[in-house]
Amino acid sequence: MPERILPWWQLQLTGQERLLVNEVLESGFLNDGEMTTRFEAQLAALLGVRHVVGVTSCTAALFLSLVSVGIGKDDEVIVPDLTFIATANAVTLAGARPVLVDIDPRTLTLDPDAFARAITSRTRAVIPVHISGRGADMRSILAIASQHGTHVIEDAAEALMSKCQGRALGTHGLLGCLSFSPAKIITTGQGGAVVTNAEALHIRLRELKDQGRPVRGTGGNDMHRSVGYNFKLTNLQAAVGLGQLTSLSERMARMQRTYRTYLEGLKGVAGFRLFPFNLGEGESPQWIDAYCEDRDALVEHLRVRGADCRKYWFPLHVQPPYRQSDERFPQSTAIAQKLVWLPSALSLSDEDVATICAWIREFYAARQLTPRRAVSVSAATPL
Ligand SMILES: Cc1ncc(COP(=O)(O)O)c(C=O)c1O
Repeated sequence: MPERILPWWQLQLTGQERLLVNEVLESGFLNDGEMTTRFEAQLAALLGVRHVVGVTSCTAALFLSLVSVGIGKDDEVIVPDLTFIATANAVTLAGARPVLVDIDPRTLTLDPDAFARAITSRTRAVIPVHISGRGADMRSILAIASQHGTHVIEDAAEALMSKCQGRALGTHGLLGCLSFSPAKIITTGQGGAVVTNAEALHIRLRELKDQGRPVRGTGGNDMHRSVGYNFKLTNLQAAVGLGQLTSLSERMARMQRTYRTYLEGLKGVAGFRLFPFNLGEGESPQWIDAYCEDRDALVEHLRVRGADCRKYWFPLHVQPPYRQSDERFPQSTAIAQKLVWLPSALSLSDEDVATICAWIREFYAARQLTPRRAVSVSAATPL
């Protein structure tokens, strides 16, 4: 067994969480309350958006977003084939049909042309997913969506404060959804939020997440304007989130440094390349992802040396609830089994990352791939 494991991800506390959680415990009010409001307000200011509604998860955020614009039975919602299954599940839970489309293999995000081709008279929304913090092509997606009157709901679960064209991901479309689950840049244990600039949708979301009450209730003689759910983010969770936010810029800087160190350390490795982040434009990694030949053997090679990777999801079209033939998804089918998230924990030092790069080099050198077969590492090189 290796002496030390270089983790794929690891909880990183700031110390502030404890103080804020204590404040909540001493207040005697653990439910959705003032700390939740503070967390929402701080996120809104950071993201440059009018409204943030805290909820129990990003899955709940996606589901409520769809319901808030009236999406339900007989509607179609376009979803990329390569994403965490929650994106499609939220559509199914809203009673609509997720229509899977292929991805752009250069960015692993929704292919705008495939989106345009999949639009029918039943299409009500599209959910671009900003995988690993990498922005989907929002300019093209928004243009196509506006031509067809399609709502754009961004799945920014993995993209808190990553920016494209000067704006935070999640704030380009009508609604954006965030996740604070354990392996995210900040966590509340479980948790999520919907962000929007639309006042009416914001009120509707507040109703939907709390039994149809547009304002925080007493639990007694409240007026419930509509039927709603219980998806409240509590003061306890918000206290953890506010504590985590105190070091958000340091966390983002660490991830960017880790990305640069991998990029430098893995230049020219045949059979391996990182996916690009446009750091200059404000895009910021949530995790470091790579294309690699012989992925499973590489992951095992790293595991026995003490580096923990995470293999990418299977495409949605191979998951039992959404099963379809591979032929409709040539890009995701060809690439998914070659994708990995490298150790990306905030606790990794430059030396740790350099060690992992050396182990990756060692693996590919032993395989003696010739330069002719090589896919060289370069953030700018398309596949
Ligand atoms: C792309 C994507 N969408 C949605 C989700 C669901 O988020 P949550 O676990 O907060 O429901 C995740 C989860 O990590 C995700 O990675």
